[in-house]
Amino acid sequence: MEIIDIELDPIAITEQVKGEMVRHFPWRSASTVPEGLKVIISGKSLCDVGCAEGDLMVQFAKYASSVVGIEMDPDRFSVAINRGLTVKVGNFFRIRKAEFPVCEVYHLWGPSPETSQLMVDHLMAHPKVGECTILTAGRNGAPHVKRSVEKWGGKVLAIPYEEWSEQLERIEAGKWWIGVIEKKTGVHV
Ligand SMILES: C[S@@+](CC[C@H](N)C(=O)[O-])C[C@H]1O[C@@H](n2cnc3c(N)ncnc32)[C@H](O)[C@@H]1O
Repeated sequence: MEIIDIELDPIAITEQVKGEMVRHFPWRSASTVPEGLKVIISGKSLCDVGCAEGDLMVQFAKYASSVVGIEMDPDRFSVAINRGLTVKVGNFFRIRKAEFPVCEVYHLWGPSPETSQLMVDHLMAHPKVGECTILTAGRNGAPHVKRSVEKWGGKVLAIPYEEWSEQLERIEAGKWWIGVIEKKTGVHV
């Protein structure tokens, strides 16, 4: 298994305005992640499975041709929708086949390694999903990233990741590991 280490300059996401710190989007996920993925996502339709408040969607939209999120937590998807993002509301595993977003790239970072693995399996087996790239993400080398790549083949990217706490302090979160899995076949129905 090949692990590719990507180094990026950190991007500041707060600024001082009239002596006060002003927070810009994204307030959680680092903009360095989509930056590190731009070769893969540029000009492609992208679905962020479990998009939460849409922090990464905002950044993905700089490069992708279209971005849709899927989210089942009302507290989280309401923030994303209020930001003007397109979100399919509901449980990813229960979206009706006819309504399933068909995209060229799927990004997911599930709530647990097991769920992330199941999400990758679901996309690989989904009859509506054709040729595409599945990006399975986790912080600090989360085991499902490796497991997904070992199971389905692909490569692992390690991208610097930082986030900001509610107190506006930078948290050095380490590397965001991303498994890049190519789905080669699929039947569109
Ligand atoms: C770790 S967060 C990822 C956040 C987002 N992708 C980002 O990086 O900014 C995982 C999200 O997946 C959502 N989620 C988990 N299981 C889901 C499911 N079965 N269907 C839809 N959303 C799900 C959770 O509610 C949570 O918001």
